[in-house]
Amino acid sequence: MSDYKIETKCIQSGYKPGNGEPRVLPIYQSTTFKYNSSDQMGRLFDLEESGYFYTRLQNPTNDAVAAKICDLEGGVAAMLTSSGQAANFYAIMNIVEAGDHIVCASALYGGTYNLYAHTIKKMGVEATFVEPDCSEEDLNAAFRDNTKVVFGESIANPALVVLDFEKFAKAAHAHGVPFIVDNTFATPINCRPFAWGADIVTHSTTKYMDGHATCVGGVIVDSGNFDWEAYGDKFAGLTTPDETYHGIVYTQKFGKAAYITKATSQLMRDLGSIQAPQNAFLLNLGLETLHLRVPRHCENALKVAKYLQGHEKVAWVNYPGLEGDSQYELAQKYMPNGTCGVLTFGLKGGRDSAVKMMDSLKMVAIVTHVADARSCVLHPASHTHRQMNDQELMEAGVQPDLIRFSVGIENADDIIADVEQALEQV
Ligand SMILES: Cc1ncc(COP(=O)(O)O)c(C=O)c1O
Repeated sequence: MSDYKIETKCIQSGYKPGNGEPRVLPIYQSTTFKYNSSDQMGRLFDLEESGYFYTRLQNPTNDAVAAKICDLEGGVAAMLTSSGQAANFYAIMNIVEAGDHIVCASALYGGTYNLYAHTIKKMGVEATFVEPDCSEEDLNAAFRDNTKVVFGESIANPALVVLDFEKFAKAAHAHGVPFIVDNTFATPINCRPFAWGADIVTHSTTKYMDGHATCVGGVIVDSGNFDWEAYGDKFAGLTTPDETYHGIVYTQKFGKAAYITKATSQLMRDLGSIQAPQNAFLLNLGLETLHLRVPRHCENALKVAKYLQGHEKVAWVNYPGLEGDSQYELAQKYMPNGTCGVLTFGLKGGRDSAVKMMDSLKMVAIVTHVADARSCVLHPASHTHRQMNDQELMEAGVQPDLIRFSVGIENADDIIADVEQALEQV
């Protein structure tokens, strides 16, 4: 980890050109890497020597960008993945196997919920979902002997619930398991999960990190803080010989880099969800302005939230940065400089008014995305959850009138003017 301030890290971390080398991170657009002796290539395959051999496992462009994000989060090792979904899948599968169990805060992105509730269940891994504001007692009661991980989102998408890091970290560590946090919405600019007890952080880099809606991607960062050997029986994949790598014991050979090395050498080797180097290059451009964009997203979102709160046609507004919001206190504790640019709101006219208002927007676009420079909206009841009736929507925690508003970095007055004229049509 460098000593630079976070703004400097956004620009300088990761890629360090040598004398006469390109000033800007090059795209290593190559599937493979050349060696002079087959002996040396053999040592790479045995993990006896570090170096690149095939881009399905590692690529220098990706590694430079992963190193930057690692520095931003304050970790010891990181890897890029092809999507945020792949990051959350690998982060768990690197330490669980059939017969294991995980505990998750229930306020989660729908894709992550499906992954943990249904897809990994087919692989023999069961998840228990706990309310984010559950008591310590209820949280502890969710653990079983075979529990291997606790997972939560720093700010849940789209519930906008702020994770009580200390409560979840305490329970995870009391049960000898790591605490994994998806920090996509808060970003390391606003929240540093490792400082609050998280052991591993993931991101959908598709969102604020890329910031321009150009590339789907993900990242996993390890703090290096979890002591796998202290719970060696639980995490045998890290602490006992890997026969697919000539009996290497990851914790012994790679120390604090054990978790990411295992994820690279086993999961990337076998499943191959690597990020394309060209996408990593574009992600790096996004990261260079992350520290400028995120505060503006938050500033604009707060202005829009306050405007909506004062509008007669608006029934309710959720924004964790808004004083009086149910999440405000937690946000002040864990992310006092800002939360994110996403807010949700409902109209007094309900579902039909929501659709009418959205269809009347001129600049703010209807898209299935959040967290890029351009303001956008989504109506889950009409889009992502459109197969459900109103009652089913409520059961799934999605109000039929809920509009998710990802506030961009245009001039806030222009965003508000667009919303105003759209509300006049309702
Ligand atoms: C919090 C969070 N995590 C993970 C994901 C999945 O990321 P991706 O779409 O890059 O696969 C998303 C997507 O919206 C998200 O919002």
